[in-house]
Amino acid sequence: MVTEEIQRYKKERGALILAHYYAPEEVQALADFVGDSYYLAKLAAREKRSSVVFCGVRFMAESAKILSPAARVFMPAPAADCPMAHMADVARIEELRRSVRDLAVVCYVNSDAALKAESDVCVTSSNAVKIVSALPNRNILFIPDANLGAYVRAQVPGKNFFFSGGYCPVHAAVTEEGVQAARRAHPRACVLAHPECVAEVRAQADFLGSTAQLIAAAKASDLPEFIVVTEPGVLYELRRQCPGKRFYPAAPVCADMKKITAEGVLACLKEGSGEVFVSEELAARARLPLQRMLELGG
Ligand code: 13P
Ligand code: SF4
Repeated sequence: MVTEEIQRYKKERGALILAHYYAPEEVQALADFVGDSYYLAKLAAREKRSSVVFCGVRFMAESAKILSPAARVFMPAPAADCPMAHMADVARIEELRRSVRDLAVVCYVNSDAALKAESDVCVTSSNAVKIVSALPNRNILFIPDANLGAYVRAQVPGKNFFFSGGYCPVHAAVTEEGVQAARRAHPRACVLAHPECVAEVRAQADFLGSTAQLIAAAKASDLPEFIVVTEPGVLYELRRQCPGKRFYPAAPVCADMKKITAEGVLACLKEGSGEVFVSEELAARARLPLQRMLELGG
């Protein structure tokens, strides 16, 4: 019933429904496109729709609005925020800009618009290594995720990194012992992990990558079993794309992503609730690093 109404209003409004892999299964099932943060940002910039319903957390919907200012962007769960998005501060960026020469401020998209506005380029977990490698600068301030930043540092030698100490509480909750216990329970399984995990957990992984890269790796692999060290919403797409393979979740859920419901999607389409606004002054400054990401990320 709700799904039918959603389809009817979506058609009437010419709206596009985007969902992140961490959204609840029933929400992923009704979306036009499901993907990782980079794919969804590219779609938001490319698809010229009058309305976009973004089934994700605030920074994702904000980025869609900034990249596609003519579109009306709606959030089914306006309270769905990413705690990490606020784990850096503008004063420290300004201080390092004053004191460190040849510095690039690299901002993970999991950040609020005010942090993006102070940055030189944005990255996601699927393009961070490629983009940081391409920067001419010797010094990199990587905000807000220090875990993803350390993962990038390990793969980009010859640059000097500064961090702001941010982290994803969902991925940071996974411990080395937790992964070892999962390995004991499933000794033949391959460990897939997101680079937002802490160093000890990243060291345990057989493959590290963004959610889309983890799905692609599982699909390409000949192995039948996988321990999945990222938000378990991704299991919906893993099981859809890899029937016959087995997946064992090894990370907690993201409570914010789970605030999104089909009823919330319908309210966006029917009543125009949850509209996202970003002031044009802030959007203009935050757009530059996002567009640079799209150029350098390919
Ligand atoms: P990706 O979509 O880049 O895999 O990032 C995961 C994430 O934590 C999004 O909030
Ligand atoms: Fe933020 Fe972590 Fe949730 Fe992603 S999984 S939205 S980084 S809290």
